[in-house]
Amino acid sequence: MKERRTVNEEAIVTLKAVLCGCGAMAHGWVRALKTTPGLADAIEIVGLVDLDARVARQLAETFGLTEAVIDTDLDRVLRETRADLLFDVVVPAARRAVVASGLEHGCHVLSEKPMAASLDEARELVALAEAAGRIHAVVQNRRFISGIRRMRRFVESGVIGDLTGIHCDFFIAPHFGGFREKMDNVLLLDMAIHTFDAARFVSGKRPLSVYCLETNPAGSWYAHGASANAIFRLSDDVAFTYRGSWCAEGRRTSWESAWRLVGSKGMLTWDGEEAFDAAVAGEEEGLLRGYRPIEVPPAPREQETHGHASVIADFLDAIRSGRPPETAGFDNIKSLAMVFGAIESARTGQPVAIEA
Ligand SMILES: NC(=O)c1ccc[n+]([C@@H]2O[C@H](COP(=O)([O-])OP(=O)(O)OC[C@H]3O[C@@H](n4cnc5c(N)ncnc54)[C@H](O)[C@@H]3O)[C@@H](O)[C@H]2O)c1
Repeated sequence: MKERRTVNEEAIVTLKAVLCGCGAMAHGWVRALKTTPGLADAIEIVGLVDLDARVARQLAETFGLTEAVIDTDLDRVLRETRADLLFDVVVPAARRAVVASGLEHGCHVLSEKPMAASLDEARELVALAEAAGRIHAVVQNRRFISGIRRMRRFVESGVIGDLTGIHCDFFIAPHFGGFREKMDNVLLLDMAIHTFDAARFVSGKRPLSVYCLETNPAGSWYAHGASANAIFRLSDDVAFTYRGSWCAEGRRTSWESAWRLVGSKGMLTWDGEEAFDAAVAGEEEGLLRGYRPIEVPPAPREQETHGHASVIADFLDAIRSGRPPETAGFDNIKSLAMVFGAIESARTGQPVAIEA
């Protein structure tokens, strides 16, 4: 930790961070760290670790991180740099060991999603963080975008009454190459987790059970599970349905899914981009009552709508204030439990109770 004085003599503490896993996503992290006011001064990247040192060097060169130690051995770098923070951007299979190592060295850890490769691993990491007295949070960045925040605010306002259903469609055909095309349950583990987490956030409900049909459709270029259709029971009898495919060529949906929220008084649809459409029952006589359009207010706090940058800022604020971050591991595990419940249901063909 380094302390400096600003012009008005307020102390700013710069935290030292090691970033482990310097592949594609790490570029987004470093860009957010370097370009976001409030983060650039508060966090200094003192180490870059990757199994492939060339990848780490490339990241350092791209962003001019000339002072950072570059190595393939995370323990050595954490020991040498005495880092305060570990940023974990490795592939999911390597996550448990990397997070455990960061906590062992006394770091607060911010991990990419998914928070672990299994629920047991996730539970172990939550317990390790608690024992170490360190913050452990997950980059569930897609809940930190304007549309998701607007939906949550709108549901909370009660305009459409009590929420009864959430329905999400996700149909895109990205050709990533790399680990995604080789892993099992690719859509559920690597992408649907964002939508499941957002459904939990928007509704404020607890996931109770799930039934899921997972397939790898004809023509898929993934090894396993490029499509999933899941029905969740959330608390207070809210139904959440998810229909998704990662090999659906043609005109795609948004990366955030296309949403329909059904309430006891009206509905809200969001195309996952700019188009919101909300209405409550009208006053026409007869079979159908018609509808009355309702304005959807903007997101309540603009600073919470910048994806990775907002997650990192929330993590930092949690460290400074002592409050839990919004995406703390002990809460995010509930979203992971939705994923593993869906995977288990797809495997057994039976509905599965969700226990985080
Ligand atoms: N939040 C998002 O929107 C989002 C988007 C893309 C990827 N991700 C997540 O980010 C993570 C990384 O994805 P990516 O696309 O950058 O993958 P990637 O394959 O491009 O990069 C991962 C890097 O981690 C390194 N690595 C693997 N095991 C390691 C270990 N034990 N120690 C050090 N380095 C190790 C690899 O060598 C590789 O360079 C994944 O968990 C992925 O799900 C999140």
